[in-house]
Parts: sequence; structure tokens; C-alpha cells
Amino acid sequence: MAAKPFAILLVCLGNICRSPTAETVLRAEAARRGLLDRLLIDSCGTDDYHAGEAPDRRASEHAARRGYDLSALRARVVRDDDFSRFDLILAMDRSNLARLKARCPAAERHKLKLFLDYSRITPGSDVPDPYYGGADGFERVLDLVEDAAARLLDTL
Ligand code: 4NP
Repeated sequence: MAAKPFAILLVCLGNICRSPTAETVLRAEAARRGLLDRLLIDSCGTDDYHAGEAPDRRASEHAARRGYDLSALRARVVRDDDFSRFDLILAMDRSNLARLKARCPAAERHKLKLFLDYSRITPGSDVPDPYYGGADGFERVLDLVEDAAARLLDTL
């Protein structure tokens, strides 16, 4: 029987910009390393405002220029059973980490971290929310996410 995959959940606010980008970049990097069948990678938001929607058009366009396809993803909100189903739950920023901590059972709290705890560029910082900004913000998300995704896989 195949071993249970190591399950990683990436979490932002709306699940339409940062975490779907991180999900796709992490999956692509895992595929390059031949690790895809040992991992389960998903993303969600702490807010249900955009639930059911495709990723933000700007996030999709910037990602596509680097070869990433976000088109199949649809936003969903975090669920109570995510805390037991996933082995590692990585928030894109402190505010979403705090929301997750408030909901997470004490026994699962060790699974919660910041995604950029794995960053070499800005370790332990937030992935800045690009939603109300310009193109630079979406490029910055991709730069930070590509670096942290690679470092995260280095640790597994
Ligand atoms: P995300 O970006 O959390 O990276 O998906 C946002 C998406 C939507 C909103 C804010 C941030 N919003 O305010 O609707």
C-alpha cells in the first residue's frame, strides 16, 4: 500500500491571489523534484468572501508569464477538518496565522507556521497582500513564493 502523502495547506485571506499562487508554484517545484506523488498540496482562505471563484485575473496572468497555470483552482474557505487532515498549515501572513490559531484545536497547533518561515529573501515575514496594489505586488508574491517553495521542499 502506498504511504499516506504528506499534506500541506497554504492559507491566505481570499484564496484568490497568494495561496493559489503558492499552491501552484509548490506543486510545480515538487513535480520538478519527483515528489508530487508523496505530497498532497491544497490552499484555502480564512474568509469566505470569494468562495467558489477562480483566482484573481491579475494573479493568473502574472503566474502564467512564469509558466504556472492557476485556471483549474476555485476558492474555498478553511474548514474545521483541515486542522486534522493536513500535516503542515502555512499562512501567508500574520493576520491569517492569527485567524487560524484562533480556530485550531490545541493538539494541532504545532502544524501552523508562516509560509515565509522558509524564505531566504525575507525570513519570517508576511507575503504582502497584492489585492489593492499594482503589478509589482503580484511579481513580488511570485518571487517570494518561488523561493520559499524551494526551501520548504528542501526540508522534507
Ligand atoms: P488573497 O488576496 O488573500 O491573497 O487571496 C485578497 C483577496 C481578496 C481580498 C483581499 C485580499 N478582498 O479584500 O476581497
